[in-house]
Amino acid sequence: MDNLDQLVSSALTDFTTVSEPARLEDIKARYLGKDGSLTVLLKGLGKLPPDERKIAGAAINIAKTRVESALTERRDALRQVALESQLAAEALDVTLPGRTQSRGSIHPVMRTLDRIEQLFRSIGFDVADGPEIESDWHNFTALNTPENHPARSMHDTFYLLDADGKVREDVLLRTHTSPVQIRTLLAHVEQHKHLDRMPEIRVICPGRVYRVDSDATHSPMFHQVEGLWVGEDVSFADLKGAIADFLRRFFESDDLKVRFRPSFFPFTEPSAEIDVAFMHGPMEGRWLEIAGCGMVHPNVLRFGGVDPEKYTGFAFGMGPDRLTMLRYGINDLRLFFDGDLRFLSQFQ
Ligand code: PHE
Repeated sequence: MDNLDQLVSSALTDFTTVSEPARLEDIKARYLGKDGSLTVLLKGLGKLPPDERKIAGAAINIAKTRVESALTERRDALRQVALESQLAAEALDVTLPGRTQSRGSIHPVMRTLDRIEQLFRSIGFDVADGPEIESDWHNFTALNTPENHPARSMHDTFYLLDADGKVREDVLLRTHTSPVQIRTLLAHVEQHKHLDRMPEIRVICPGRVYRVDSDATHSPMFHQVEGLWVGEDVSFADLKGAIADFLRRFFESDDLKVRFRPSFFPFTEPSAEIDVAFMHGPMEGRWLEIAGCGMVHPNVLRFGGVDPEKYTGFAFGMGPDRLTMLRYGINDLRLFFDGDLRFLSQFQ
């Protein structure tokens, strides 16, 4: 039975030398497979005389059991090694902070627009809308802006190209929200043409406008809020009252001076620039321009289909970007449009 012991010990050595599970199965075949050495020995038992067969059979079965259990042990060991290396490779640091859903927030300028809208709605204004790609007629002509006005020059206005890449002079990115005045007048007149007396118009129009301009206080795209109030006896006093009241409510402060400084716009007469100054705080006493305004020019009313003998009105165009800078103490307009989350998330 020496050779049986040898066979077992050579099987055990063979098993320990392999580290690949597939190789282990090859080696198993060498001993326990169809032509494996132990199988061959078992098959040969039949040729032995019965008394020897019993003893040899028992011995071979013992050897076979030893080989089989060594094999199982080795299989388990290899499986364990494979598992450990897989775990090491897919190591997971359960102490890392989880990936939470980050919370978005309303852009500071949008907050201002919402706030302006809310304040004007509270005194009976509606909100109107107009296209950002506007016709030259709505943006300039109907606003009493003559052919040779500097705003119409290429240096100040973004014009659009046609399919051949040629500049079109009849379409542009609106340079202000004032064309919405014209659109509002025309639509309002059309809607009420069956009435003797046209109901009052009271709208604001918040939106984006575009000019060829870029520095710390100018961006090629910025926001405006147009206001328009037209009725039978709307006066400059109404304009002053509405604006002064709005500003006090917007800044939540009576600690505020409002100044109307004579100015010029082709579409208003008389025209003024609106300045504010705070009476306390870091900005104390500094006048800041926040809007243009005036009484709607009779020609503009006529272009809008409204009889300037019967109706008067005022209009204003304010800069919500500026208002936001003032309200939050921001000194660079470009921060609004850079999309830097370190800046934006401060307004959550
Ligand atoms: N549209 C003018 C501008 O962009 C502002 C304005 C609006 C002035 C309405 C008067 C009346 O500068």
